[in-house]
Amino acid sequence: MKIIEGHYEIEVPEGVPVWDVDPYDVDILQDPDEYYAELRSKGPFVYIPKYSILACGRYEETKEVFSDWERFISSRGVGLQDFELEEPWRPKSIILEVDPPEHSVTRRVLARALSPKATAALKELFQETADRLIDELLEKESFEAVVELAEEFPTTVFPKAVGLKEKNSRALVDYGAMVFNALGPDNELRRNAMAMGPTTVPWIVEQCNRKNLKPEGFGATIFAAADAGEINEEQAEKLVRSLLSAGVDTTVTGIGSALWCLAKFPDQFKRLKDDPTLLRPAFEEVLRFTSPVHSFCRTASGDTMVSGTRIAEGSKILCVLGAANSDERQWKEAEKFDIGRRPTGHLAMGTGIHGCVGQNLARAEVAAVLTSIIAKVEEIDFAGEAVWRPNNAIHALDKLPLVFKRA
Ligand code: HEM
Repeated sequence: MKIIEGHYEIEVPEGVPVWDVDPYDVDILQDPDEYYAELRSKGPFVYIPKYSILACGRYEETKEVFSDWERFISSRGVGLQDFELEEPWRPKSIILEVDPPEHSVTRRVLARALSPKATAALKELFQETADRLIDELLEKESFEAVVELAEEFPTTVFPKAVGLKEKNSRALVDYGAMVFNALGPDNELRRNAMAMGPTTVPWIVEQCNRKNLKPEGFGATIFAAADAGEINEEQAEKLVRSLLSAGVDTTVTGIGSALWCLAKFPDQFKRLKDDPTLLRPAFEEVLRFTSPVHSFCRTASGDTMVSGTRIAEGSKILCVLGAANSDERQWKEAEKFDIGRRPTGHLAMGTGIHGCVGQNLARAEVAAVLTSIIAKVEEIDFAGEAVWRPNNAIHALDKLPLVFKRA
């Protein structure tokens, strides 16, 4: 059987339209709305010949595939590569890229480390940091919000929350970009990201060692599980690595996208200022509207059917979360950014057993930033063009020049 991008070539299932599109084309990654709409319009699934994969973008099927961990597994990789055929570029994640029963053990440990109680204990740190940063930005005529706020905030608080002894913001941001670009094909984005390996990976691996972690923080909770015999030392190191992989780039993206939405829709920013109780639903709407993780894959563990489509064992299915989150079958006026919507069930944080284990933390970080902005900023304006940064799995801003006007 022929192998394409690390997985078996599959036959086109009966009745499934063939769509000659490259979902990893830079133009699509930067501005995906038309691609999302066309994907949904073609049916529950399409076959993409360039990569020999199926893709889904309607809410119902995307949710079904993404959450049914028995029929659509993660242990063969959540990118294009099938780990049964090829070694992953790094030892695979022991939470994201495994299925139960292994997953249940590691998930329990990370869920404990990132529990609502552990996150609540960081509230003061988050708020003080956010207040200081927003005060500094208010002093400036304009600023580059991706670097000066979206990256600066998580790379300041997250190492403290984990208990890292050393700070290296660049390595954290670059490692995140590597991990997510690695989920795509062997394109320029992936190759450029992989080229950062020698400068980034050794530092990340080193920080996961117990000796480089403080006695308090998420890292310490993970190693306490090793001391209790729940997991071994090597698993503890890999779980710390999972935090460093998934905990920074995603939150950077969430904050950047929230700022972009509030600058783009000033009426919604005013509404939020008038009623700060809308803060949480406003961030959920940012997540639905911008889908920071635009697509992840699953692999069919056996022959199965979804919505009348026959899916063969070993098929890679690209679950386009961004398309599902803008599916008008699920969301009334899906194209509208409405902070009063309360978009329960969006897929931006995943769903089912692999649903984001860091979501409390991400929400707490963004809540601190937005609380400060609501209190201190009267108006958010663009100071130049916002530019999106292509990444094989993340829809994030590259440049966001902004002006804050003091309240
Ligand atoms: C806005 C911020 C975030 C977004 C949009 C996001 C998105 C996601 C998504 C879509 C998944 C599901 C992956 C799948 O099912 O294959 C996921 C899982 C995960 N996330 Fe997040 N995430 C965010 C923040 C964080 C943070 C702050 C952390 C850690 C501190 C984190 C750690 C993880 C981990 C470890 C998993 C794997 C969980 C599992 O497989 O059981 N994420 N995230």
